Amino acid sequence: MLQNILLSLFHKLITLTYVPVVVQIVGFDGVEVHGAHGYLLDQFLKDQVNDRTDEYGGSLENRCRFPLEVVEAVVNEVGADRVGIRLSPFADFSEAGDSNPLQLGLYMVNALNKFNIVYCHMVEPRIGSVGGPDESLRPMRKAFNGSFIAAGGYDREDGNKAIAENRADLIAYGRLFLANPDLPKRFALNAPLNKYNRLTFYHENPDPLVGYSDYPFLDEESNRVAS
Ligand SMILES: *[C@@H]1O[C@H](CO)[C@@H](O)[C@H](O)[C@H]1NC(C)=O
Repeated sequence: MLQNILLSLFHKLITLTYVPVVVQIVGFDGVEVHGAHGYLLDQFLKDQVNDRTDEYGGSLENRCRFPLEVVEAVVNEVGADRVGIRLSPFADFSEAGDSNPLQLGLYMVNALNKFNIVYCHMVEPRIGSVGGPDESLRPMRKAFNGSFIAAGGYDREDGNKAIAENRADLIAYGRLFLANPDLPKRFALNAPLNKYNRLTFYHENPDPLVGYSDYPFLDEESNRVAS
């Protein structure tokens, strides 16, 4: 009962406050629903952490229900052409692993097709520790009707290769982008990259700007070398 009240409050919170603020007031182009890496929605999806006995737990359909309700609510608020989602069926961060990540990923992309959202952004199995070494995102890429974004340990070369082989429409870069504010330019020029410093990830440094917005741009770097 309490859980259902909390769910419905959360639902209201999303539709009444967060989404309109983000899109209509802040002026962002869209909303990415974070359904990955052990955060709230991923905890519903994964059978190793979802121990609910109501209609939000148990079967695959039940576990996917709340994340899909969130997607539907956001779509109703801002329009499907402004909504994407991030999923990591193969990852088990925060103990959120699944016994059948392929089945989970396929169920989600097929269900997401009905909403016509812009993209599905999925994390490569090689980043998580669930699933065998031969697992790939291909079945989800094939099944999803919108744009498919793959993420996870890509560099310039194998990102280009994945696109050339039609394994994704787009590649997402996290760590490389953090360390290289002009990553697209560097990729275009095939210029050297700043190395990221893992020790400054996740606010471990007392100064929040260190490792966040202080990596040099290409020009600054060459100026620095020149001066
Ligand atoms: C997704 O694309 C396939 C192949 O083009 C099509 O048959 C199917 O109806 C589409 N699904 C939805 C929900 O639009």
